[in-house]
Amino acid sequence: MKFKILIVDDEKNIREGLAASLEMDGYDVVTAALGDEGWKRFQKGDIDLVITDLRMPGLNGEDLLKRIMVESPGIPVIMLTGHGTVETAVAAMRNGAYDFLTKPVNLDRLSLLVKRALQNRELILKHRRIEEELEHQKQFQTIIGTSAPMRKVFDTISRVAPSKASILITGESGVGKERVADAIHALSPRREKPLIKVHCAALSAGILESELFGHEKGAFTGASGRRRGRFELANEGTLFLDEIGEIDQNIQIKLLRVLQEKEFERVGGEETIETDVRIVAATNKDLKAEIEKGAFREDLYFRLNVINLMIPPLRERKDDLPLLITAFLKEFAGENNKSIEGIDERARSAIYAYDWPGNVRELRNCMESAVVMAKGSVITEDDLPPTVRTKSEEGWIRIPLGTTLENAEKIILRDTLSFLKGNKSKTAEVLAIGRKTLHRKLGGKPEENPEEPET
Ligand SMILES: Nc1ncnc2c1ncn2[C@@H]1O[C@H](COP(=O)(O)OP(=O)(O)OP(=O)(O)O)[C@@H](O)[C@H]1O
Ligand SMILES: [Mg+2]
Repeated sequence: MKFKILIVDDEKNIREGLAASLEMDGYDVVTAALGDEGWKRFQKGDIDLVITDLRMPGLNGEDLLKRIMVESPGIPVIMLTGHGTVETAVAAMRNGAYDFLTKPVNLDRLSLLVKRALQNRELILKHRRIEEELEHQKQFQTIIGTSAPMRKVFDTISRVAPSKASILITGESGVGKERVADAIHALSPRREKPLIKVHCAALSAGILESELFGHEKGAFTGASGRRRGRFELANEGTLFLDEIGEIDQNIQIKLLRVLQEKEFERVGGEETIETDVRIVAATNKDLKAEIEKGAFREDLYFRLNVINLMIPPLRERKDDLPLLITAFLKEFAGENNKSIEGIDERARSAIYAYDWPGNVRELRNCMESAVVMAKGSVITEDDLPPTVRTKSEEGWIRIPLGTTLENAEKIILRDTLSFLKGNKSKTAEVLAIGRKTLHRKLGGKPEENPEEPET
């Protein structure tokens, strides 16, 4: 992908010098001598990055920046400043500028900065393409995933949904077992009939029994009238038994009977009731181990587990991350009335590096809080919860393939320094170089390093 850069500066030699250097880096470059002219050019809509002088006659750099931020907040704008205007440049950064460079411009720094900014831009464009892909992925409306393991899950769902066979969905907490149960029902011929859900772990044994099978008047203290159970309510539809590993032995026997004979009696009742229910059960327990322990009946297990659907943990299908992230960002941006365009490289690598023990649920919560925390239109690593953030901060420096040794060194210096919160002595120590060397490598003047905290 070839990016187009707009350079706005009233000094001809700066304009042309920067243009030549960026063209050598492989970008398309267009130039404008004045703010107004630059704004006109920008509005054509094909510009990916803007480099603008701050002080210009007519529309100045700050106003140009403001207009761009209103029209297309995702476009990175790099400000050029003369000596003595660094404060204005810092103010411009508060107004949304991507970064600033002091004149005379160090072309290597420019090159690195532009590259980094456009990597973000590339991610944003990728994010848009993913959003379009999401629109297409309607078949399993509510289950997002394109990884190989999830394709397998989808394939099984579409093959088993039409039948009446019992299904046992297994997988860690938060992998999406309930969503899969929803999809099975929605894709089955029973879709017009009820899908009734019972969270077995939430109810005590006595209550669960009457929830499932109903009870007659006077069956137990407090049973003031006849009540139909979930099996009756789900007739001709689907019954979802969540956390099936938690039910006690007595209910296991009753359940086994319904599965075998398709009939049951209400608690305290004589009448035998026939039922036509499709059972989908779910558990995050290892039922085989429960059987070994004698806590779960093997015969019931085989009745439930006619078809097994194992949903793999998120850490084993990280290919699903981009789509999930995009979907959740969209959902929560809408909910919070924020315009979020995507997620930057560092936040993204933190998300990839993390293990997600709470699976998709945890990712969803993480994206919700990131959207709430976000200051700009792109989620940064700072917006992520500390549990997710620290992993990458503590252990990672990401350097893209194709980086020159010289630029790699700059990235290592910068990231180490920023991780150590600008502490130069510590940075020098960690990198095993002298303080003077560090200072020289950082370019000498501290104000030329935008990552440095203001002191
Ligand atoms: N593939 C997915 N696409 C979109 N959202 C998902 C996906 N998987 C899970 N979720 C969301 O993550 C959360 C957890 O999903 P769900 O309740 O289905 O998990 P679970 O496996 O039943 O977890 P538990 O074992 O804790 O009950 C829900 O908010 C759900 O909407
Ligand atoms: Mg669940």
